[in-house]
Amino acid sequence: MYCTKKITDDLFWVGGNDRRLAMFEGVYSVPDGVSYNSYILLDEAAVLFDTVDKAVCKVFLENIACTLGGRKLDYLVVQHMEPDHSESLGAVLTLHPETTVVCNAKIAALIKQFFDIDIAGRSLIVEEGSTLNTGKHELMFLSAPMVHWPEVMITYDKTDKILFSADAFGTFGALNGAIFADEVDFDRDYMDEARRYYANIVGKYGPQVQAMLKKIASVEISMLCPLHGFVWRVNIDGFIEKYQKWSTYTPEETGVMIAYASVYGNTANAAEILACRLRDKGVKTAVYDVSVASASSIIAAAFRWSHFVFASTTYNAGIFISMDELLRDLAAHNIQNRTVAFIENGSWAATSGDLMRKIIAPLKNMTLIDATVRLKSALKDSQSPEIDLLVSEILARMVHK
Ligand code: FEO
Repeated sequence: MYCTKKITDDLFWVGGNDRRLAMFEGVYSVPDGVSYNSYILLDEAAVLFDTVDKAVCKVFLENIACTLGGRKLDYLVVQHMEPDHSESLGAVLTLHPETTVVCNAKIAALIKQFFDIDIAGRSLIVEEGSTLNTGKHELMFLSAPMVHWPEVMITYDKTDKILFSADAFGTFGALNGAIFADEVDFDRDYMDEARRYYANIVGKYGPQVQAMLKKIASVEISMLCPLHGFVWRVNIDGFIEKYQKWSTYTPEETGVMIAYASVYGNTANAAEILACRLRDKGVKTAVYDVSVASASSIIAAAFRWSHFVFASTTYNAGIFISMDELLRDLAAHNIQNRTVAFIENGSWAATSGDLMRKIIAPLKNMTLIDATVRLKSALKDSQSPEIDLLVSEILARMVHK
């Protein structure tokens, strides 16, 4: 039995949902699952856009068969070779020996690397701006390197103004029967997962995302069809505006993300007190225990908020391990344009404050607040003015509260 969704009169979603996957790419938890999107265009020629992860290959092949209804599959457009979109490529090409693979040269090379599949003689290698006429539709292929791998290309259907955007504009989370973002309360229920997806998957590649956004700015877009999550047909500009912010490392909101690493609760207490005092001044706050919250959710929050406070105990003469990992992960994602302060704890030979500062200082356009609040085991009443000073230092560096 098939499970497809109609996108337009001649375009169909034929992907699959995986709600059993614990860690996407082996590193990002996906408690609400993930969707692997694939689309079939039924024009004079039938065109399949990308395949799916092996986890949903069976339902995917059923969906294709049902949608084709006995027709031949003329083209398979391969936009991205990461295995979550290419693992079922062999199965499709075996079932459909008539199919021509449409891809760029880098994708063709990766097909050879990943699989023992010879597409010579059944491939159409496209270049930047190449077009393919499928009958009523004219497809144009554009490169989008590093969104999210170097080979990535995106496809613009000039006829219906639909952009097949590969990983761009994706969202974590399985589709729950809906296919369009406007069928759900996206801002309330899915924006956090869209941000977590963006920040962790392509957050490092802001300039490359910017390059893609510039390319697509010159065309009218009626629909975005990404490889994960919902299809967009309403408020497309609003979602693109989020990508503008994220890819230029511009905070979405003024507020303070406080992330702490605490062994016995004393560092946590200092973080809580700081959060309370910031709130008393009307400042938005989000507090994370880095030993419990996933790094991917804190990295997503970092793309949202304008100011950070990192609080860590000293451990093995360094930063507490989960904080150390988080800060290096954040640095690897190229986070920039933020104001940052630190709280250090150490019962003896404290080092965490200066070491945290060393990781953050080289990042681009970071304003580091000079004074580190230093705890010796626990925050004392006598240090209350130090917390107040930190609050005022943060407030002084806020454009809007
Ligand atoms: Fe969804 Fe880069 O693969």
